[in-house]
Amino acid sequence: MAQARLDDDDYIIGTDDIEVQRLGQQHAIWQETALAAWRRAGIRPGMTVMDVGAGPGYASFDLARMVGPQGRVIAIDQSAHFLAALKAGARERGLDNISCVEADLADIDWASLSCDLAWTRWCLCFVPGVDTVLAGINRALRPGGRFLAQEYVDYRSFRIEPAEPVFERFLKAVRESWVHFGGDPDIGRRLPGLAADLGWQVEDMRPVIHATRPGEWMWTWPTAWLEQSPNRLSELGFLDAGDVEPFRDFIARRTADPASLLITPMVLEFSARKPGPA
Ligand SMILES: C[S@@+](CC[C@H](N)C(=O)[O-])C[C@H]1O[C@@H](n2cnc3c(N)ncnc32)[C@H](O)[C@@H]1O
Repeated sequence: MAQARLDDDDYIIGTDDIEVQRLGQQHAIWQETALAAWRRAGIRPGMTVMDVGAGPGYASFDLARMVGPQGRVIAIDQSAHFLAALKAGARERGLDNISCVEADLADIDWASLSCDLAWTRWCLCFVPGVDTVLAGINRALRPGGRFLAQEYVDYRSFRIEPAEPVFERFLKAVRESWVHFGGDPDIGRRLPGLAADLGWQVEDMRPVIHATRPGEWMWTWPTAWLEQSPNRLSELGFLDAGDVEPFRDFIARRTADPASLLITPMVLEFSARKPGPA
């Protein structure tokens, strides 16, 4: 097993400019799903929303437009590089209602923050001590405030057909690498129990999963990740170096074959409400 180490503000996926681009493309594809969830959760002008693990801020920008000039977005992330991209992006878009908190989620002074809703997407799956993080979010939520997440719930549901053994080895490497750094690739499964521990009332739960084929926009989301991640997994010692090229060939062959099928890893959309007046 690898003894991989990372810089303090880095995490398993990495935070370089290529990843900034990939997160942008990812958000474009998932924007519709996020907007629908935000509407269902009642996000409206004037609210304060925390974006927990905001990355370069693609969701924060949309949230900032939704809450409007009377509202505020608090974007939290540990990556200085991502938050610099977020600040630059906010300036370019003329958004001045986003404030940034640069810190590990384990070190946030949650009681100093106050919000109507905490949003998180593809972040809790990388974070150790999620129970402590949610307890912190609970302190930041106003009475009647909401927690809304879109997180993986069953990473093994990720399929590409026709399958090859190298894909199973890749999935195993991904799972092991996240777990190695304290994450949980199926963190969605724990959210109902964690919410119950905090006395939150579950409002909505729904799985989000897509079937896609080559040529479709959705196909480009998982395949960008599949093309980018093997090198890093191999550098960090989770994927055999000899699997990198065969894996890339596998993805290229599936992409060239119009009869290929890809099932995206299942995401759980989960919303819960802290007791108190609306
Ligand atoms: C896959 S990105 C998702 C970014 C954003 N939520 C989105 O949907 O585009 C995960 C983010 O979680 C952040 N992150 C991971 N572990 C963290 C931690 N312990 N504390 C703060 N941020 C963390 C990373 O820096 C990264 O920005």
